[in-house]
Amino acid sequence: MTDIQTNASKPTTADEGQRAYVLLVANSKGGVLKTTTACQVTSWFAKNGYKTLLIDADRQQSSADWVTLHHGRGLDTETLTCVQVTGEALKRQVRNLSKMFDVIVIDVDGNGDEDDTTLRAALKVCDRVVIPFFPCGLDARALNDFMKAVTAAQQTAHFPVSLFLARDFPADTSRPKVQTFVEAQWPEIKVDFLRSRILTRRSMVDVMSDGFSVWDFATRTGRYRDPKAVTDFEYLISELFPEIAASVGLTTETVVAETAAEV
Ligand SMILES: Nc1ncnc2c1ncn2[C@@H]1O[C@H](COP(=O)(O)OP(=O)(O)OP(=O)(O)O)[C@@H](O)[C@H]1O
Ligand SMILES: [Mg+2]
Repeated sequence: MTDIQTNASKPTTADEGQRAYVLLVANSKGGVLKTTTACQVTSWFAKNGYKTLLIDADRQQSSADWVTLHHGRGLDTETLTCVQVTGEALKRQVRNLSKMFDVIVIDVDGNGDEDDTTLRAALKVCDRVVIPFFPCGLDARALNDFMKAVTAAQQTAHFPVSLFLARDFPADTSRPKVQTFVEAQWPEIKVDFLRSRILTRRSMVDVMSDGFSVWDFATRTGRYRDPKAVTDFEYLISELFPEIAASVGLTTETVVAETAAEV
């Protein structure tokens, strides 16, 4: 197993021995696939033998509900743990729990307001923020307070910020427009614009509602199976964690080849 701390996306914050890599999935907008992304990425690590913790820091508790369903089906019971934490306590919990896990994924719905203690706490302890972004002008403008909170946190912790298009449509070419907009609007933040796109897929609604991950159907048949949804997330993981993904034969090139073979 590749050591998560030796991955190319290694944290730049102070490190006290072995501790978990902390990925924060965040956006102030609702319904942009934060929970879906957090659950699918966590499940990928769990299935690859990493001790993974999903922290549900959203009062809606959707990630925690998904884990209850997922475990109820006997899936990832040994390697995937979930806790619900909000507010200032998140910092302490992550610091304590990070010694027990290889990777921690935090699902947070923070808006970046002054009193948004949960998002601010999460930004203090993360190694990377990943923003699922629905390519729509209104979503972009609503991101202002959230981006300000990210900028403020980056004054003391130099974590990378990655953005990918979520609920995108196959024929869309929004990425350059989104990049131009974000760079003009928040020039102080260096955003890594991923090539990954999680496309709008009906299958994903059922997969999430019924407590599955796309990986549960990667090699099986059944109504939940959607190889294209699998490749969406494989591509995302190979961009976010290139060395870890490569250690199990997954690179952006192999995913593209896989996608081409499916067409
Ligand atoms: N690829 C997809 N295409 C279309 N719908 C999807 C896809 N993946 C997930 N969904 C559905 O979209 C809805 C919103 O997704 P999700 O709950 O992950 O968003 P969120 O950002 O966490 O929302 P919230 O702000 O409410 O926490 C859910 O019903 C989910 O099942
Ligand atoms: Mg959610």
